[in-house]
Amino acid sequence: MLRRLPKTPMTDPFATARTSFLDGVRAFEAGDLATAEAAFRASLESLPGRPSTLMNLAATLTRAGRPAEALPLLDQALAGEPGSTEALCHRGAALAALGKTESALAAYDEALRSRPLLVPALFQRAVLLNLLGQATAALVALERLMAIRTPDAEAWFHHGQTLQALGRNDAALQSYDRALALEPHGASTWSRRGTLLKDMGRMPEAAHSFQQALVHGGDAELNRYFLASVSSDAMPQAAPRAYVEQLFDSYAADFDQHLVATLGYRTPQWLAALLPAGRRFDGALDLGCGTGLMGPLLAPCCAAIDGVDLSRQMLEKARETGLYRHLWHADVAAHLQQGGEHYDLVLAADVFVYVGALDEVFAGVARVLRPGGLFVFSVEEADAGETLQLRPSARYAHSRPYVADLAAAHGFAVQHVDRQTLRHDQGRPISGLLMRLSRS
Ligand SMILES: C[S@@+](CC[C@H](N)C(=O)[O-])C[C@H]1O[C@@H](n2cnc3c(N)ncnc32)[C@H](O)[C@@H]1O
Repeated sequence: MLRRLPKTPMTDPFATARTSFLDGVRAFEAGDLATAEAAFRASLESLPGRPSTLMNLAATLTRAGRPAEALPLLDQALAGEPGSTEALCHRGAALAALGKTESALAAYDEALRSRPLLVPALFQRAVLLNLLGQATAALVALERLMAIRTPDAEAWFHHGQTLQALGRNDAALQSYDRALALEPHGASTWSRRGTLLKDMGRMPEAAHSFQQALVHGGDAELNRYFLASVSSDAMPQAAPRAYVEQLFDSYAADFDQHLVATLGYRTPQWLAALLPAGRRFDGALDLGCGTGLMGPLLAPCCAAIDGVDLSRQMLEKARETGLYRHLWHADVAAHLQQGGEHYDLVLAADVFVYVGALDEVFAGVARVLRPGGLFVFSVEEADAGETLQLRPSARYAHSRPYVADLAAAHGFAVQHVDRQTLRHDQGRPISGLLMRLSRS
């Protein structure tokens, strides 16, 4: 007699893959990225290489902060579906998250070649162009998008930001106001509106905008800092580190050209001129070294130059000069407390404007500087009657007595002070002090 085989369920790989796929989409939409990832991977096990599943898995990984893992999946999806605009947009998002802005832009451009009116690609293109400092092109992209689709608050926000970058302040303010009319709780818009009004010299309105940004859950450290720069609100003792890092990361590519060629920045040269002629140094530490503009000025008289800075992109530029022995990514005060090296020269060109209160830095320099070593730096000079001041430019200024008191408290003798116009702000000369102290 024939034995009956046990009944096994008939599994349709397509149906199984589809179920997992839909589970993944639901989890992704609910923000449960771990479940979404597992579901998309399960779906791919049933139906390997399916482009739409690969794309969704890639989008999940990008959103989970793992964009590098998304890229090979998107290559696979594009091999299966050449020219897929969806895959190209996901590729753009992954590349943008990796900071590869130009490659991300190229991915969106490729998508737009086959679908010129693809709204998400147009939008991301504008965002990336702004990041690259190409505000004119960003405005063209945004206005094309706004002609296709009624702009939402996000589009007006970016429109405002782009106009602000182009110096079209009145128009930018209108765009921010339109964004806020659609989304009154938009903390980022309130904050950007505050910076715009601050630059327009409308301080009470700027203060109101920063207060609104705080009320609506905007970045508390940043908005308090901005608020203090335009009002008598309690002054933070330092610029937010994340703000400085982001500011200079985005500035790094154009820093030398913009500051030196356009704005005539000369502080490194002035500080170098304070070094006694003919003196040689065994080791120099360049605090807030930026792109390394001090490097070539120090190389002839220093056996070794080290640098420390908060911005990785600026440090990368300094590294390219080949003039620095060590470069550290750190806050200057923290680094000075921990570093094991000792120096006979420490410099800081246009850095203390972001550091704010200088007690810790002076204590740290006293720790790393050998007796007889020199401490050379610039500060913006505070207005009469102020000691430490946070200005609407979002930069700190220090008075000469403030610095002299710190010098005395930490065992430095003030050897030399020069007064210079460091830069112009809204057409007004900004006076600064160039100082040379010696470690007793
Ligand atoms: C205006 S740039 C000057 C760069 C360079 N010293 C020069 O003269 O070209 C200011 C630099 O200081 C850095 N910086 C500001 N605050 C800092 C901090 N607390 N710790 C480390 N670096 C800081 C910034 O990242 C930026 O690179």
